[in-house]
Amino acid sequence: MNLMTKKYGVMLIGCGHIGEEHIADIYFRDNIRIEAVVDQNEARARLFAAKYRARQAAVDYRTLLDDPAIDIVIIATYADTHLDILRDCLQAGKHVLCEKPLTPDLASGLAFYRLVKQASSKVLIAHILRHNRSYQKIAELIQSGAIGRLRLMRMVQNHHAKDWPRYQRLMADCPPVVDCGVHYIDVMQWVTGAQVREVSGMGCRIDPDAVRDNYGMIQLQLDNGCIGYYEAGWSRSLAAQNLKEFIGETGRISLTLRDNRADNREEGDLLTVYHQGSGEYQTLNLPSKYKDMYAQLCRLIEMIEQDEPGNPTIDEAFSAFYVAIEAEQAILTGQPRQVSYRRFLQAELDPLAATATGLKGKPSL
Ligand SMILES: NC(=O)c1ccc[n+]([C@@H]2O[C@H](COP(=O)([O-])OP(=O)(O)OC[C@H]3O[C@@H](n4cnc5c(N)ncnc54)[C@H](O)[C@@H]3O)[C@@H](O)[C@H]2O)c1
Repeated sequence: MNLMTKKYGVMLIGCGHIGEEHIADIYFRDNIRIEAVVDQNEARARLFAAKYRARQAAVDYRTLLDDPAIDIVIIATYADTHLDILRDCLQAGKHVLCEKPLTPDLASGLAFYRLVKQASSKVLIAHILRHNRSYQKIAELIQSGAIGRLRLMRMVQNHHAKDWPRYQRLMADCPPVVDCGVHYIDVMQWVTGAQVREVSGMGCRIDPDAVRDNYGMIQLQLDNGCIGYYEAGWSRSLAAQNLKEFIGETGRISLTLRDNRADNREEGDLLTVYHQGSGEYQTLNLPSKYKDMYAQLCRLIEMIEQDEPGNPTIDEAFSAFYVAIEAEQAILTGQPRQVSYRRFLQAELDPLAATATGLKGKPSL
């Protein structure tokens, strides 16, 4: 990382769970100044201003968009607010770090994608696992052939939902299989360098008062022949579970996050690489930070200062979002979905070219 010495003025919108993870990791950094914190709940905005030494607190971000001291806006509100806030911030010339998922549905997600593509400022989507050292190591091991040709990815991310009202609000926008799924679909496409081409799935409502199905499992086929599954639920009945395993023709990589280790937690995450030929295990200890919010923000600063691409790029983030939304459709209809985000975008953004090349029109919105 070779960043210039400019100090960036940051405004955080959304002083909730993920907003606090952002600000707690950046407010004391040499190249960051917390200019403003915003929440529709005034008490939370004031609390964050006092705790993280923000110059201003507000309930409406629009009152601050003219402030030239604000260079970067972090959008950490609900998915159904992202598009409007992004539009306002870009119109005001601000750079943006926006939480995932892009939006709650495909039509508004496409509008978000268009705005980013046309923007003169930089926008990074907060796919935090891209900035996690353990996932970076997994990608490196797979791509260097450490376990031979990758065949299967097994991923489970179940939450025992203690803070039920918060989960209910998140689920008003998206089911867990979309909200969390965008992270893991992105990981699958990132580590393989392949694209999902078919998705199927099943889901159910575990808690009777859940605002929608609060559990889903999806199966994905990638265009390199690899398959994967992902399971996500937020329920007061589910046990928290976090399985991440990558299986290749000559071995296997398993990730045990620091918090799930039986011992030596203070030393970080544990990667176990099993080599089928020798029967040997190699263990790698990685002092990784699960959500490295500062590294993520520094990526946005690199985009600003050095015109670097996003990590993920908007196309990579949109692609994971598109597959997640299609996965929800597969669950709702009980039918597998053939997916190609490139084909979808081509049909949406350039329908004439799509007709000329024989594409058969748009997938359902
Ligand atoms: N990257 C990750 O690992 C991760 C983890 C959790 C949540 N998220 C995402 O972050 C977003 C927020 O989730 P959360 O768990 O922090 O929710 P939360 O309920 O804990 O916090 C959201 C906050 O935003 C505020 N808010 C909502 N709309 C606002 C508006 N228009 N103006 C000002 N404030 C507003 C709410 O009052 C609340 O304080 C969601 O998109 C979620 O999917 C990402």
